[in-house]
Amino acid sequence: MIRFKINGTPIETDADPETLLLIFIREEAGLTGTKYGCGAAMCGACMIHMDGTTVYSCQLRIANVEGKDIKTIEGLGEDGMHPLQKAWIEEQVPQCGYCQSGQIMRAAALLETNSRPSEAEIRDWMSTNLCRCSTYNRIVKAIQRASKDM
Ligand code: FES
Ligand code: FES
Repeated sequence: MIRFKINGTPIETDADPETLLLIFIREEAGLTGTKYGCGAAMCGACMIHMDGTTVYSCQLRIANVEGKDIKTIEGLGEDGMHPLQKAWIEEQVPQCGYCQSGQIMRAAALLETNSRPSEAEIRDWMSTNLCRCSTYNRIVKAIQRASKDM
C-alpha cells in the first residue's frame, strides 16, 4: 500500500507503484484540472504542489510520494476562489486554457515565498511554464493583481 494525501484527503492505494502521479491524479482521483502536456518536464501543464513546492507530476511515480501532501488546482482555494484564480478571471488570462492550472500552481508557490515579486522576478519564476497561446503578459498582470490583494 502507498499512502499520501491529495488536497487533504488521505489516499491509500495498491495501484502499481510505477504509476505516474499525473495519471493517478487524473484517472484514479478524478481530478482533471492537472493536464498532460509534454510528459518530459518541459511545459509545466502538469504542475502541482508537493509539500508546498512545485513539482512536475509527469515526472513522479506514486512510489515517490509516500507520506507526501499533494495539492492540485482543485485544492488551491475554497470554491475556486484563491486570490490568483480571482485575478485570473479579472485579467481574462486564459485563451485555450490548457496550460493555465499549471501556471496558477506555479504562481501560487511564488506568492507563498515572495508576496511582492517584481515583474522580472515573476517572469523568471514563471519561465518553467509554457503557454502556446502566449498569454504571458496577462499572467504577469494577474500575479501582480493577486499580489496586491493578498
Ligand atoms: S506534462 Fe509535465 S512538464 Fe509537460
Ligand atoms: S492558454 Fe492555451 S496554452 Fe496557455
